[in-house]
Amino acid sequence: MASSIQIRQGHALSQQFHKSKKSAAVLKHAIIKQYAMPFASKTGSTSTGNRVAFIDGYAGPGRYDDGAEGSGAMLLKTAHDLAAMRSARRAELHFVEQDPDTVARLRSVVADEGSGLTVTVSDGDVSTHLPALLDAVDGIPLFAYLDPCGLIIPMDEVVSIFNRPGSNAPTEVLINLTAHLRRFAGMLTSDKPVENSLKRIDDVCGGDWWRYAWLDKCPNKVASEDDKAAAEQAVVEGYAQRLAERIGGAGTWVIDVRPRADLKPVYYLVFATRHIDGLLAFGESASLGLQEWRKYHAKIAADGTLFGGDWEANWKAEEARLKAQWVDTIADRLINELGRGKAFRIIDRPQEILGEDLVGVVRTLHLRAAIKKVLAAGKTSTDPKGKNDLLNLLIEPV
Ligand SMILES: C[S@@+](CC[C@H](N)C(=O)[O-])C[C@H]1O[C@@H](n2cnc3c(N)ncnc32)[C@H](O)[C@@H]1O
Repeated sequence: MASSIQIRQGHALSQQFHKSKKSAAVLKHAIIKQYAMPFASKTGSTSTGNRVAFIDGYAGPGRYDDGAEGSGAMLLKTAHDLAAMRSARRAELHFVEQDPDTVARLRSVVADEGSGLTVTVSDGDVSTHLPALLDAVDGIPLFAYLDPCGLIIPMDEVVSIFNRPGSNAPTEVLINLTAHLRRFAGMLTSDKPVENSLKRIDDVCGGDWWRYAWLDKCPNKVASEDDKAAAEQAVVEGYAQRLAERIGGAGTWVIDVRPRADLKPVYYLVFATRHIDGLLAFGESASLGLQEWRKYHAKIAADGTLFGGDWEANWKAEEARLKAQWVDTIADRLINELGRGKAFRIIDRPQEILGEDLVGVVRTLHLRAAIKKVLAAGKTSTDPKGKNDLLNLLIEPV
């Protein structure tokens, strides 16, 4: 099943998003934090020597100037946590960073925080180092994180991660497709397009199809900001779909990261995996990551206001309101589906039960509450008690 699932942001996020330089990074970091551990503990339970690998291809400094964790420090902490598990997993971290000053800072973070771990730091271009790193993780479960500030590596290279030696082992990639696309794609309608730059995007997108997708929504240079956003969205969706086709299996998942429902995305996260288990586990982490993100924005929004001191209580109340609203919506949709008189699994009815609005936003917690509500209403005989995989649970009419 190839799927491309879109998650949209729509809830009470801060007006003051742009005040914090790091705020755009909060969601991607929250998702990595939530996902790295379950990925490694699950895939590492059966891997040779309980090894699992992470490649952070555009690693950055590891920590920000103010000491806050970047992806480097986060992965180092996860690797220590995995090593401390009763049934330990041996995480191997491979960082690549091109900028000399940044790589020096990263090395210092690794020296301070990587004691006892298997860590490599390569300086230079990720494309140069990738083949050797893929050899080094032959047959080991791999999570690759590609988070450039500009354009990502060509799609052929992303696909090579899935076709690596020993690629029967679980392989997953999280890509930050930045809104930089917009700047380059603008050249399509400029008087002096730079063909080499356009070709570079052809490589990124795996062909020139994106030019037509863009021009379809944004045919000339007087196009509105909304048209440009629609063009960007079409290219990102096309990218996810093509990547899904090329890697086969479960597919890709797109999160468009926007500060508020009415603002444009600042970047898109594309998650790719061949395994449905990976998609489901990622969905759970994305939901938790979004919750962290809402919390962060609630705090920022309250800073300097009369209600600043109560922000956490207000945030909790808002979360409770959202939970109740989501549970009611899912319960209504379950009852509607049960009205057809046949048993079904939510995994087979994603559109009907989760829809575009709730996929990736809700998680097991919300599904459980909704099924319980439907049970209490006497519309199903299915009790979710003691069941973990609720997406695959057969929901039966009474
Ligand atoms: C957005 S930052 C990374 C942030 C980091 N991944 C995090 O989540 O905390 C992108 C980094 O990629 C580096 N970079 C840019 N082009 C690169 C390339 N071709 N190969 C490796 N690193 C590159 C930049 O120097 C920059 O430090």
